[in-house]
Amino acid sequence: MSRKMKNKVLKNLTIERIAAEGKSVTHYEGKVVFVQHVAPGDVVDVRIRRGKSSFMEGEAIHIHEYSKDRAEPFCSHFGVCGGCKWQHINYDLQMEYKRQQVVDQFQRIAKVPIPEVLPIIGSADTRYYRNKLDFTFSNNRWLTREEIDSGKEFERNALGFHIPKRFDKIVDVEHCYLQGGVSNEVRNALRDFALEKGLTFFDMIKQEGLLRNLIIRTSVTDETMVIVQFGEDNPEQVDQVMTFLSERFPDLTSLLYIINLKKNETFHDQDIHTFMGRDYIIEEMEGLKFRVGPKSFYQTNSKQAYELYKVAREFADLNGDEVVYDLYTGTGTIANFVAKKAKQVIGIEYVEAAIEDAKLNAKENDLDNTLFYAGDMKDMLTDEFIASHAAPDVIITDPPRAGMHEDVVSMLLKLAAPKIVYVSCNPATQARDIALLGDKYNVDIVQPVDMFPQTYHVENVVLLTLKTG
Ligand SMILES: C[S@@+](CC[C@H](N)C(=O)[O-])C[C@H]1O[C@@H](n2cnc3c(N)ncnc32)[C@H](O)[C@@H]1O
Repeated sequence: MSRKMKNKVLKNLTIERIAAEGKSVTHYEGKVVFVQHVAPGDVVDVRIRRGKSSFMEGEAIHIHEYSKDRAEPFCSHFGVCGGCKWQHINYDLQMEYKRQQVVDQFQRIAKVPIPEVLPIIGSADTRYYRNKLDFTFSNNRWLTREEIDSGKEFERNALGFHIPKRFDKIVDVEHCYLQGGVSNEVRNALRDFALEKGLTFFDMIKQEGLLRNLIIRTSVTDETMVIVQFGEDNPEQVDQVMTFLSERFPDLTSLLYIINLKKNETFHDQDIHTFMGRDYIIEEMEGLKFRVGPKSFYQTNSKQAYELYKVAREFADLNGDEVVYDLYTGTGTIANFVAKKAKQVIGIEYVEAAIEDAKLNAKENDLDNTLFYAGDMKDMLTDEFIASHAAPDVIITDPPRAGMHEDVVSMLLKLAAPKIVYVSCNPATQARDIALLGDKYNVDIVQPVDMFPQTYHVENVVLLTLKTG
């Protein structure tokens, strides 16, 4: 981008569409311009912030005309918090844009013939749909422009979410519309208690402070798990905080804490202490029970996970004779969900605790045709593994955002199972993997599912069938 474009204001641009990762797009003199926090149909003046030879990025500094497709954002933190960036777009259009993202990514990356992408399956709940939220304590609260300009002194401790692209700044959350149950009460009560008692909030630069992170997990069975991470090993203060929570919220199913003195908040390698109740909560789906521990992955929109799994099961179209591999099985939810219709299900996942839960889940649900193994997929899915297990008739794969490792894709090509059901939360990496599988597989059905209303994220299920002849 030429230097003279930086900070230049481009007037009266009409926002045309939404591109990958939820960015709104317009054009200026034939060049793509990405703009944040606007909706297709808005007419705006854009100040250019940065750019390359092929595109520019800017912010809307004046809106001349609001799109008819806008919705009124309902959250007071909208625009600051990175959580629900699409509240200003009505839900029908959010769904259409998500479907379009799948179409765009598959056309751009998959480079194999695809059928028409089906309309997205919408989420019945568009608020309070998450079963897990992760809040950060910080002594560096994000101040709004008005607060700074007011010249007043403000409380700088905060408990909430990271400001996008600012690891050290936290928006102090008053009410979050993503999680129901006692989530908002627990967070606000803990923050108020910590402020009243003068407990220290974590300093991310100096890496010190008592209170570090709060995770709240809820379930459709109305169970709640609260996990507090402490950044200092101070038994007296830890006890003070945990006693407060246990007395104020005696109905919590699981109250846990972690002393995490590492540089980051991840706790897969940390000891977890149970202060009150169980060390897991129970999720339920179609009469099946799932045990969810603090380290386990569980789909974050429980009700919509049921819709997602129904699609996967329908695509697998099992008749009871098949061997199914459930790759990236987590706590074995999909494996358990399809087991009654299969001869055998083999689940693989690298979090050992999740595999332990998967085994317990199968037992709890009286399923005796499942096997679960822990390990990195590329190291597990080897010739030896295949030789010692039945070959799969159907492979269900649900990898993380990064998609499948190329060794795993190569193994799938070698296995040549008649059917692959590919579930993904990132259509770009899914399309990349499908491009590699395209030598041997046809893409039969593409079904997006909305797991995350008010965000640009989209889940997508694809049925691949082995080419014949
Ligand atoms: C999108 S989740 C799917 C979980 C499960 N299918 C479900 O619906 O609940 C992806 C899972 O892959 C696991 N995982 C990520 N990378 C892995 C790897 N390299 N090998 C094995 N499992 C992995 C994660 O721990 C996580 O449980």
